Amino acid sequence: MLSENAVKEIGLIRNKYHDAQSSLLPALYVVQKEHGWLSPEALKEVGEILNVPKAEVKGVSTFYAMFRHRPIGRHLIQLCTNVACMIMGSESLLNILKERYGLEPNGTTGDGRFSLVVMECIGACGTAPAMLVDTDFHDNLTEERIVNILEKYK
Ligand code: FES
Repeated sequence: MLSENAVKEIGLIRNKYHDAQSSLLPALYVVQKEHGWLSPEALKEVGEILNVPKAEVKGVSTFYAMFRHRPIGRHLIQLCTNVACMIMGSESLLNILKERYGLEPNGTTGDGRFSLVVMECIGACGTAPAMLVDTDFHDNLTEERIVNILEKYK
């Protein structure tokens, strides 16, 4: 169930747009920010608040890769494995995540601390390899640095 704040925020978003469909993307973002993912129940609630058909809400939410449809850990690691990052060692970083945390791409640690997705380029090729942890950007990663960085996320 969406919080009172989320419902209020979605209402404010709705008032900024001429039609309800246009407010759907920012409304879904509010829900994902609050819950970490978009559950079927949350999608239904958003549809009811905005008066947008369920199929349309689901269609929009599944079209964009930024929306998640299953629960994730407390912290989401998005590690780039595209060419520049691969050349600069992202494979060894993936191995560290696997060996140290038991993390596989699209997986979550047993304690729910981290989830991992691999990304295409995140625009930091000049300082590769790079990753995001939640909304924090980290670059010039090494095996040692990635471990030190992740220790800060409990
Ligand atoms: S290839 Fe990784 S940031 Fe561009």
